[in-house]
Amino acid sequence: MRTQVVDHPLVSHKLTTLRDVRTDSPTFRRLTDELVTLLAYEATRGIRVESVDITTPVSPTTGVKLSTPTPLVVPILRAGLGMLDGMMRLLPTAEVGFLGMVRNEDTLEVHTYAERLPDDLSGRQVYVLDPMLATGGTLAAAIRFLVDRGADDITAICLLAAPEGCERLENEIADLTVPVSVVTAAMDERLNEKGYIVPGLGDAGDRLYGVA
Ligand code: URA
Repeated sequence: MRTQVVDHPLVSHKLTTLRDVRTDSPTFRRLTDELVTLLAYEATRGIRVESVDITTPVSPTTGVKLSTPTPLVVPILRAGLGMLDGMMRLLPTAEVGFLGMVRNEDTLEVHTYAERLPDDLSGRQVYVLDPMLATGGTLAAAIRFLVDRGADDITAICLLAAPEGCERLENEIADLTVPVSVVTAAMDERLNEKGYIVPGLGDAGDRLYGVA
């Protein structure tokens, strides 16, 4: 698994305001949107393209267009929804699938409660949107779900990641042969006893949508 922390002053600047407890929900949503577009620029560096012949007003030339099948963007409900517009701004022709996953706090198993994805993801590049890579359990389950459907290249875009979550994710998907990357704005210090990222930004879903 490849993990990339995007090192850019604009990313750090927006992330700092996002973290600030005084930032209200409308500002938090706008900054998330802007930050995701910046992260998406890095995350799509390996997007597949094919050569295409065109004619400019001056002469024929060769360029590129996105390959088919078209990439699939998959926000993990609920907080991943807050990242969707920022991603689609950069990839307007992508298709969008949805995954709703929740962890059973007794068994610690991840349960898929909603799913709207193409049946066959063979040959698809998939971009998963999940703001907080905390324990890594949900993201690992989502990646496995997508690979079982045939996805052959997966990039997760996260606002923040914790070292514990990255390590667990890496272990849990070690048997998969498809390339998996994580692109994040920062690798924070640790998880606290409640599973929150420290220093983090709190509960991303609550801060985006204002309800618990
Ligand atoms: N989910 C969140 O929203 N925040 C955290 O810090 C960890 C998981």
